[in-house]
Order: sequence, then structure tokens, then C-alpha cells
Amino acid sequence: MSSPTPPAVALSAVGKTFTAGAVTALTDIELTVAAGEFVSLIGPSGCGKSTLLRIIADLEQPSTGSVLVGGKTARQARLDQDYGIAFQQAGLLDWRTVAANVELPLELHGVDKKTRRARSAELLKMAGLTDFANRYPAELSGGMQQRVAIARALARTPGLLLMDEPFGALDEMTREHMQGELLRIARETGAAVVFVTHSIPEAVYLSDRVVVLSARPGRISDIVSTGGWGRSATDTDVRSSTEFFASVAAVRAALRGDEVATVGGRDLR
Ligand SMILES: Nc1ncnc2c1ncn2[C@@H]1O[C@H](COP(=O)(O)OP(=O)(O)OP(=O)(O)O)[C@@H](O)[C@H]1O
Ligand SMILES: [Mg+2]
Repeated sequence: MSSPTPPAVALSAVGKTFTAGAVTALTDIELTVAAGEFVSLIGPSGCGKSTLLRIIADLEQPSTGSVLVGGKTARQARLDQDYGIAFQQAGLLDWRTVAANVELPLELHGVDKKTRRARSAELLKMAGLTDFANRYPAELSGGMQQRVAIARALARTPGLLLMDEPFGALDEMTREHMQGELLRIARETGAAVVFVTHSIPEAVYLSDRVVVLSARPGRISDIVSTGGWGRSATDTDVRSSTEFFASVAAVRAALRGDEVATVGGRDLR
């Protein structure tokens, strides 16, 4: 009998206090992301979304609790390069061309040059950057750099993608295109995605579940099952449907719930 697939991410009682300034960024985070699931994190600026993603990626150590990534410790998952990351800053290597940046994770994994070239060509086509393969990051706009970072995150078709506002710098049409491509890739590869965004419609469109965080200290205040609009969409007009707007309204209410509770102490949901 084969063992069941472990969750992509399992967080238990995770908390984080930064000693500098004694900021409690996160408290008591319980969250399990199933293999292949798309989960968005949404919440006010400074509520700890990036910190949580960095903890999953083992770029930051939690002060309390435990973190498992694909059934391994976060450290082991990082060493094994089990996930792709695309963060708020593109984080490209200035001295490498666009194609060489995309190929970096493959190079680190000993993939041969011909296969690397073919893969980066495919990804750059997806990102609409074929003509820029041999240019350097400094020659690209912010949104273009971000698309290179996304292509790089996808290079090894990882089982988990960690994305921190990856589409924030993109114009609306490019953003919708990249959302569609991300969903397609996640579907084809079975990758789970943990996705940070400030956009409620984006979270609703992409996700199976939207995790709503509240500020100071960051904690999960609500989890809204949105049902994967983008994944199940057969027509492109799903974003204008009444049902879609109802999901958006549900997440907005969950987000507002906090502020209302803080401001007036009354639950207006
Ligand atoms: N290295 C650090 N040292 C001290 N405090 C930090 C550090 N990194 C983050 N913080 C604090 O932790 C809190 C959460 O920050 P974080 O970057 O995770 O927020 P966020 O939800 O991603 O915000 P945004 O939506 O603006 O990106 C903030 O109060 C921030 O000041
Ligand atoms: Mg952030």
C-alpha cells in the first residue's frame, strides 16, 4: 500500500516575535495546505503574510510551533529545493541574462544545458519575454523582471509554489494572463500554491481557500472556501458572474469583520 501524499504545508501553533523592536508578527497559526491545493493569504499591510511565507521557505525561523513542507522539515525542503519562490522583490541576479536567471534552479540541480535552454525558452514564451532572453534584468521594467522571477520559480515544476504578491507590478491584462498561466501550470503539474495578495478578486479567482489574517499580532481570523473559480472556469467571463461577486463579498466581509470589531465592537457581517 502506498503511503498517502503528505500535505504540501502543515503549520502548527506557529508564532513569530522579532526581537528587534519586540514585534509579535504572528501568533498561533494553524494551517494545512493539501497537496495540489491553492491557498491565498490576505490581510492588512504588516499583518505578517510575508513573514509566514518566509517561515515556510525556511528563510526565517518561527519563534514557536512547527512547520512541515511536503512532510519534511522546512530546512530539508529548502535544501532539496522542493518549492519555487517568487517574492515581492523580483530578486534577479543582475549579472546573468534573463534566460540564465530562469535556468538557475535547473543549473543548481545539474540539468544539462540543452534541456535548460529548452525549458527557459518555453517559460519565457509563457511570460511573453521571448525577445528578452538575452537581455539583463536592469534593461527590463519592474513588471517584466517580476515575470522573469515567476518563470524562474516554475523552472523545476516544483510540488509547491510560494508567491508573495507576484503580480503586484503588472498591468491588469498581463496580470489576468499570468493568473491563467499560473492556474494552468498548477493544474498540469499538481503543484500546491501559497499565494499572498492584496487583491480580493485575485484571491477569489485563484484560490480553493482564502485565509484572512488580522493585524497585530497576525493571526488567522477566517478561512473562506471560494471553490476555485479560475480552476473550474471554462469561460473567461466567470469574473463578471453574480456568484463570483458573492465570493468576493464574502472575503471582503471577513476582512472587514476585524476592523468593525476593532472600531465599533459590532459584527456587521
Ligand atoms: N526582519 C524583521 N525585523 C523586525 N521586524 C520585522 C522583520 N520583518 C518583518 N517585521 C515586522 O513584522 C510585521 C509583519 O511584516 P510582514 O512583512 O510579514 O507583513 P506583510 O503582511 O507581508 O505586509 P505587506 O502587506 O505590507 O507586505 C511588521 O510589523 C514588520 O514590521
Ligand atoms: Mg509582505
